[in-house]
Amino acid sequence: MERMLSGIKPTGRVTLGNYIGAIKPFISYQDEYEMFIFIANLHSMTITQEPKELRKNTRDLIAIYLAAGLDPEKVTLFLQSDVHEHAQLGWYMTCLSGMGELYRMTQYKDKAAKGESIGTGIYVYPTLMAADILLYNPQYVPVGEDQKQHVELTRDLADRFNRRYSETFVLPEPLVAKVGGRIMDLQNPTKKMSKSSSDGKGCIYILDDVNLSKKKIMSAVTDSEGSIRFDPENKPGISNLLEIYASLSGRTIPELEQRYVGAGYGTFKKDLAEIVGQYLTDIQTRYKEVTQGSYIDDILKEGARKATPVARKTLAKVERKIGITIYK
Ligand code: AMP
Ligand code: TRP
Repeated sequence: MERMLSGIKPTGRVTLGNYIGAIKPFISYQDEYEMFIFIANLHSMTITQEPKELRKNTRDLIAIYLAAGLDPEKVTLFLQSDVHEHAQLGWYMTCLSGMGELYRMTQYKDKAAKGESIGTGIYVYPTLMAADILLYNPQYVPVGEDQKQHVELTRDLADRFNRRYSETFVLPEPLVAKVGGRIMDLQNPTKKMSKSSSDGKGCIYILDDVNLSKKKIMSAVTDSEGSIRFDPENKPGISNLLEIYASLSGRTIPELEQRYVGAGYGTFKKDLAEIVGQYLTDIQTRYKEVTQGSYIDDILKEGARKATPVARKTLAKVERKIGITIYK
């Protein structure tokens, strides 16, 4: 089996966009790949976190992944902070990188352009991400479009290391989902659905009250044309709803267009609201189960137990090659 790895940041409440763009694809990969998934809690520290909230968000995120169908028997699921090798290899990656290449990363540049005060962590963020990946030598790294650049930097750093010392790292490939990679805000369908959206009505949260989520679908912005067809340029609202519908139902967009020929937006939205409602109901039921007792703690401990020897072995190899190790 080929290996796949990804990290998810425990910041904020999980949205339907996260589910369609990240959680659902991960779950579909778990039968085909040897998967490592970790909660990137070290990365979350690049912005100030309220400790209580960080703890809650971390638990919720893990619970939602498990509730949505991630199987800890198939996937090694762990906390980044539990495997200390991440931070240590991160330092070597920082030393291997140049100021210029980090400066070009859009995540940093966008923030810098806004003139916000920026922590040093944001700047070196990609070198820690490179370490996260390279410790496990995966072939593939599924990420959102915005993270592709960081995986490419990881390849550059891996290649630099391999040339400077000797062949050590696999060059990982970013894997960006084609459908559902960008679910839009329901009230402002030219903007990405995001937990930071100001208008709560445009964003569905996985732990939203089910009736509220249905209302959000029913009041989604559409257009006055009255026909259900996929045309993101001219009909961003309906196109976004079609994409959500297709992703959740497993039907293709052309199939759905065909099915709703002549139907009104109300009928279409009502059907979609039922589907979204059913998804949330199922996930929330499982969420209640997985948050009982010490289930999550046990999974994380077991995940760290499985991930640590893999990470340790890579770090030991690196430290031998670069001259840090002087005795065995
Ligand atoms: P974030 O919540 O922005 O840290 O993103 C976590 C994961 O969810 C990343 O893989 C994102 O690409 C994905 N994601 C976030 N928002 C959306 C969205 N509106 N549509 C599709 N995927 C998303
Ligand atoms: N930077 C990623 C994000 O913001 C999270 C992340 C951290 C990650 N380390 C990673 C993703 C390693 C993939 C591989 O979403």
